[in-house]
Amino acid sequence: MRAQYIELLEAARQTCQACRVKAGEAVVVFSDTTKNEVLVEAFYAAAVSMGAQATLVLSKAERVPLVDPPAAAVAAMMEADMVFDLATQPWLYTEATNKILGRGARVLQVLADESSVIHRPPTPEISERSARLAARLKGQRIRITSQLGTDLRVERDDRPVHFQDGCVTHAGDWDSLGVVVAAFAPPETKAEGRVIVNGPVYLGPRLNFHVETPVVFELAGGRVVGTTGEGREAKIIARFFEESGDPNARVIAHTGFGMDPRADIWGADIGNWESYDGGINVAFGGNNIPQLQGRTACRVHVDTILVGATLSVDGKEVVRDGIFADG
Ligand SMILES: [Fe+2]
Repeated sequence: MRAQYIELLEAARQTCQACRVKAGEAVVVFSDTTKNEVLVEAFYAAAVSMGAQATLVLSKAERVPLVDPPAAAVAAMMEADMVFDLATQPWLYTEATNKILGRGARVLQVLADESSVIHRPPTPEISERSARLAARLKGQRIRITSQLGTDLRVERDDRPVHFQDGCVTHAGDWDSLGVVVAAFAPPETKAEGRVIVNGPVYLGPRLNFHVETPVVFELAGGRVVGTTGEGREAKIIARFFEESGDPNARVIAHTGFGMDPRADIWGADIGNWESYDGGINVAFGGNNIPQLQGRTACRVHVDTILVGATLSVDGKEVVRDGIFADG
């Protein structure tokens, strides 16, 4: 028997249930030549076992992200009720995505690694709790503090709190399996103070790592004006900002928190880090995606996670030392 097939199939079936895949629905599993075939087969078998009219579409893998899939694959997905997107590279921000969602398909991206697929499939409990917690971000003055010395103040204007629970249930929905996170884009000039990053860092799209020695990000007027720390990570981050050659790389992009108690901050799965329960995300650079209504166009995007930090909204603690108040 092939390694993990049974576990992946069980998880794929649970994902189908959470995404309300029904008998007779048109389901397209889209994948490519570099994806783990066991994972692809598990999703296809799960859709078939739900009684769906399942079609497998396989294309040659793209080497870089954000490329439209081949036209014939897009046409198949436009005819679907439900798409499981198992492409190797993400292609969320493409014309193809707009066309597919516009035709009423719901799309679940499966970019998560096999471990997240198996251990963190969507559940009704996760969806209910994350919707409830995400609503608490809907204030105007957000302050993030930590025992390490973080003290950052950001504001929220009329832009939405974007929230993901890792499943799709309605026509035109898009989500990514294993991503359970809430975030909003603050006004670009309204972030003051310092964050002391002690968790994972993603220097997108090039590098990700965990900091061993905390890194201090100084912010003024919504921008990173300095990164310092005793370890080599601070130097790498400072160099990344410099070499990006784009002043927008330093602009605050989003903040919020992860809401999946099953997630951890280890491994290379960025969705796992971002979803870490009570982990605070503070990001910089490009954020001009429709979900966030951010205004910063930039080739790079930096995600950082603060572990054990406190986040208050309009003076009320939502996360205290990494734990949700009344979570
Ligand atoms: Fe981000």
